[in-house]
Amino acid sequence: MFRSIIPKLSRRDLLKAGMVAGASVFLPHEIALAQAAPLIQRKIPSSGESLPVIGIGTARRYEDIQTEAQKAPLRETLRQFKDLGGKLIDSSPTYGTAEAVVGELSSGLKIRDALFIATKVSIQGRDAGIRQVEDSFKRLRTDKIDLIAVHNLRDTETHLRTLRDLKQAGRIRYIGITTSFPRQYDEFERTMKAETLDFIQVDYALDNREAGKRILLLAAERGMAAMINLPFGRGRLFNAVQGQKLPSWASEFDCASWAQFFLKYIVSHPSVTCCMPGTAKVEYVLDNLGAARGRLPDAAMRRRMETFLEAG
Ligand SMILES: NC(=O)c1ccc[n+]([C@@H]2O[C@H](COP(=O)([O-])OP(=O)(O)OC[C@H]3O[C@@H](n4cnc5c(N)ncnc54)[C@H](OP(=O)(O)O)[C@@H]3O)[C@@H](O)[C@H]2O)c1
Repeated sequence: MFRSIIPKLSRRDLLKAGMVAGASVFLPHEIALAQAAPLIQRKIPSSGESLPVIGIGTARRYEDIQTEAQKAPLRETLRQFKDLGGKLIDSSPTYGTAEAVVGELSSGLKIRDALFIATKVSIQGRDAGIRQVEDSFKRLRTDKIDLIAVHNLRDTETHLRTLRDLKQAGRIRYIGITTSFPRQYDEFERTMKAETLDFIQVDYALDNREAGKRILLLAAERGMAAMINLPFGRGRLFNAVQGQKLPSWASEFDCASWAQFFLKYIVSHPSVTCCMPGTAKVEYVLDNLGAARGRLPDAAMRRRMETFLEAG
């Protein structure tokens, strides 16, 4: 039954699965096959454009990059990400060197056009916001930014006006808002109801499920794409399962690692469009993109995953 749901794979795909998935040479045959399958994509409701469900977040690990030695692993990370079909990179002008690093590396690798670059506006005041956005264009070395979102509801109405002008002028393609603070959810929902937005971005994870019961449902209702930040709770989830083996039933949804366990839980929420784990190592790209392949947990399996984590 499994074979019937995966596409026909070439020898090259299979070789790629063995090589790029690293550990997958030791995986059960079916999971290794799933690792070579195309990335699962979701549509952005406002346009119908498709995006792979896993991207890269650039907070922290891209924030303080000064030397070539620091850039080299990030360059390889972005190269592999693009080669494997990845698109979405999420950044912010508040992430130190992150935008500049993404700009330099993507332009050096000549992969800008293959990427979907999302950043934010994160400052008080109209003029300051306009200046910040113009600086983002320069740092990202691009004349078109795919998505700019208002960061953590900072001066939302002011910046949404600017972002709409930029969209109208064809300089950005999508607009949105972000948060990662449950205390902002009420205001976030009010904004979602009052504004026409292409994207929302919110924190959601196997051990942080509040947004899944309200924000994500509202996003679907309002026709907004939903991006997920903090999918591992900044590593909190890895700590929660430290020393534990992946349950054997994880293979029922083609899951080969804890990262895939946590990410597949997220992207199997019916309202999620994509999610961007902080990814600064090649082995993480290979691992995390594995969550965008093969089967995803169904509703019953999702409950089983929740119970498993709660049982500790
Ligand atoms: N309000 C907002 O707009 C907002 C707020 C927060 C985050 N964000 C966005 O969301 C993104 C994700 O959040 P985050 O990066 O802070 O946290 P996260 O994705 O929950 O966790 C990232 C950490 O997980 C570890 N990791 C990643 N892949 C792994 C793998 N395959 N196996 C084991 N460990 C793995 C890495 O640890 P090491 O690197 O330490 O090894 C990484 O630092 C951010 O980068 C940012 O783009 C937006």
